[in-house]
Amino acid sequence: MNIMSRMILPLMQRLDPEDAHRIALDALQLGLGGVSCPGNDDPALSVRAMGLRFPNPIGMAAGFDKNALVVRPLTRSGFGFVEAGTVTPRPQPGNPQPRLFRLTEDRAIINRMGFNNQGIDRFAVRLARLHRVSSPRRTPGAQVPVGANLGINKTGADPERDYPMLVGRVKHYADYIVINLSSPNTPGLRDLLEASRLKGILDAINTAHPERPPLLVKISPDIAHDDVPGVVEAAIEGGAQGLIVSNTTISRPAGLLSPHAGESGGLSGRPLRALAQDMLTRVAKVANGRVALVASGGIETGADILDRVRAGADLVQIYTSYIYEGPGILRRLKAETLRALRAEGFETLADAKGTALT
Ligand SMILES: Cc1cc2nc3c(=O)[nH]c(=O)nc-3n(C[C@H](O)[C@H](O)[C@H](O)COP(=O)(O)O)c2cc1C
Repeated sequence: MNIMSRMILPLMQRLDPEDAHRIALDALQLGLGGVSCPGNDDPALSVRAMGLRFPNPIGMAAGFDKNALVVRPLTRSGFGFVEAGTVTPRPQPGNPQPRLFRLTEDRAIINRMGFNNQGIDRFAVRLARLHRVSSPRRTPGAQVPVGANLGINKTGADPERDYPMLVGRVKHYADYIVINLSSPNTPGLRDLLEASRLKGILDAINTAHPERPPLLVKISPDIAHDDVPGVVEAAIEGGAQGLIVSNTTISRPAGLLSPHAGESGGLSGRPLRALAQDMLTRVAKVANGRVALVASGGIETGADILDRVRAGADLVQIYTSYIYEGPGILRRLKAETLRALRAEGFETLADAKGTALT
């Protein structure tokens, strides 16, 4: 156990969660997130997907760095890729506080942040600056892929206008782009996951930007099971290169212990794991290898990572487990994933992909 996990994290967990988050971002900016060279990752963990190379499959999920303030420190701390955002066209304050709750007993978080962010202008400037310094496309192996996660404002939004505009602002600086249609905290957003609406948005993006980095759609774990094939087909027909499965859930699985369990908002972390894994399996069966899949939701061990890869994921993302454990989690997850691979008789992650699908 290092000083971070022994002393700093327990202290942080006594702070108001939003204060703790701000301190974590400051600490990363000061270089306290640790340094790990992507070249040091075991080649068995490397992934090729969407025309990109990832030194390991573990990404930072969207929402941690909404304003692209700490992308570079995160890329250096051992993540295989980093997703900044969700960013909206105009800056907005998000929902009134309190809006972020630690469910410590459940290893979970409930948030109803509501896309608090500084808007696309500042976001794009930061990504552009980062891109000038280093890009995996220009200097292979020197950096890890960076994604931009895009959303719409709470008021005055027009998705068919706003998403193409946002794509245009980041397409030269992001290695991949995510259309977030799954946050439960922006009224009406998840309605855009309806198949024909989704196809319409993707068509609008393709018309405005025939040349662009790979595009992914981030979906909800709460989609009705009957609707899953339609959503996946619409995304593929609309030219998406990948799906992120999944965002937080508005459901409340039985057995939650924390007094905050009744707060409204999206639930993440351990209680989301089974739901997210089940949705991934459903999506993977429909997608059948036609698009890349990024698994998100309750991942906290190497066994979890291997389970998602065996269910068809190319890559995974973490958020809540990183909040509870800090940057040291990356070293543990990589070591555990390698051990889990060997224990199951696989040489590389690529060998394990999809092997649990029948
Ligand atoms: C506080 C908080 C804020 C989040 N904000 C966003 C966001 O802005 N955009 C997004 O696509 N997902 C957001 N998410 C969802 C995460 O990216 C992730 O998909 C989800 O938390 C499940 O992963 P986890 O169980 O590892 O946390 C947020 C999650 C949390 C906990």
